[in-house]
Amino acid sequence: MDKIVIEGGRPLEGTVKISGAKNAVLPVLAATLLTRGRNVIEGVPKVRDVATMIQLLEDLGAEIESNRGEKIVLDTSCANNPEAPYDLVSTMRASCLVLGPLLAKLGRARVSLPGGCAIGARPIDLHIKGLEAMGAKVWLEQGYVHGAVDGLKGTQFYFDTVSVTGTANLMMAASLAEGETILENAAKEPEVVFLANILSQAGAKIEGQGTDTITIQGVSSLKPIDCQIFPDRIEAGTYMIAAAITQGEVLIENCIPQHVEPIILKLQEAQVDVEVDGSSIRVRGGRPLTAVNAKTHPYPGFPTDIQAQFMALMTLSRGQSIIMETVFENRFMHVAELKRMGADITLDGHTAIINGVQNLSGAPLMATDLRASASLVLAALAAKGQSVISRVYHIDRGYVSMEKKLSNLGARIKRVQ
Ligand code: EPZ
Repeated sequence: MDKIVIEGGRPLEGTVKISGAKNAVLPVLAATLLTRGRNVIEGVPKVRDVATMIQLLEDLGAEIESNRGEKIVLDTSCANNPEAPYDLVSTMRASCLVLGPLLAKLGRARVSLPGGCAIGARPIDLHIKGLEAMGAKVWLEQGYVHGAVDGLKGTQFYFDTVSVTGTANLMMAASLAEGETILENAAKEPEVVFLANILSQAGAKIEGQGTDTITIQGVSSLKPIDCQIFPDRIEAGTYMIAAAITQGEVLIENCIPQHVEPIILKLQEAQVDVEVDGSSIRVRGGRPLTAVNAKTHPYPGFPTDIQAQFMALMTLSRGQSIIMETVFENRFMHVAELKRMGADITLDGHTAIINGVQNLSGAPLMATDLRASASLVLAALAAKGQSVISRVYHIDRGYVSMEKKLSNLGARIKRVQ
């Protein structure tokens, strides 16, 4: 198992280029199941979750014509295996994104239930309820979700809680259903808007993406997808915080500033200098950090995927910061590890109370989930002394060459077996 060794205390300086958005490409890959012909997707980030999704599509029968660099070409016309196996789905919850497309394309699906993960139970009850509302018979058997339908029908469906992949799943299923589907309390994440736009370019009839209500008129077929994935807003936010926490100065290139607006505003509130210049963002740390409060919300609120990284920053602020996690029930796995580095954090249910300290000290650390791992890397970059982070496969799920990008910014970081 790889580990990452970091000698902290060095300001990051230089330029970093943001890669394609993992959470935008995963639903688009699943959506290729809805099309006939040669799909071309560019700007694909080389991360483990994307490799898993590609493997899953191959298992379903897709033909991967090429998968080189950041471009993938695949044809799913012959993908007629309805089963997504446990060994793949258990490593990546987003595999549930093939459920809707398989029911729309084949009228049947057998997808292993995603195991819970470190950040909570993460059920897919809303995905299932929505597909049942579209006429599918869905049942659980031996840890698999089974689905069968003889033609999905449009429906009106209200999401009890905002669900990013739930909205994506039902939007994909509705694209080929008969009649009109209205999704209410739909997710407004940029990745959902992107999927709607890509489906529309392939011939789907979708309106309202980016608002609470998305309306889809089913069509009989979709043309192949041809798209360029946009930059990853969570990767961008992570490097913005890396510049701030190390009191360095970093130019972050290939961003969409609007997607990271809540992060920019929170950093500026904490007295971090953030300047937007077109598709680049310059972040300069160094002034004493003001302790600020944050509360996670679905987009366009403060993103839950940045909560752990922001908490690492607040451990070095002047004063007390209150961070509330409202999206997941257990997304504080990084807290215990940060405390072992000397952070002063108290948990009270979904709330973390952080009292800033002068400095953190390096320590042996254990990664637990993708964004908690990023938080530990950021804390280690700022800490005095050496940190060794194990289970770094969590990082490889969602960050392209993190240690290379950081060492190009002057970090003393290396990966060891
Ligand atoms: C997506 O997960 C992202 N993953 C997550 O990013 C992100 O943290 C999350 O959205 C919230 O923004 C992908 O896009 C692949 P949800 P998703 O369904 O869709 C509950 C990362 O780090 N819920 O929006 O799985 C759920 O338990 C990952 O890149 C139900 O109760 O999240 C959670 O509390 C981590 N029933 C809340 O809703 C359901 O059927 C939001 O979950 C579905 C969800």
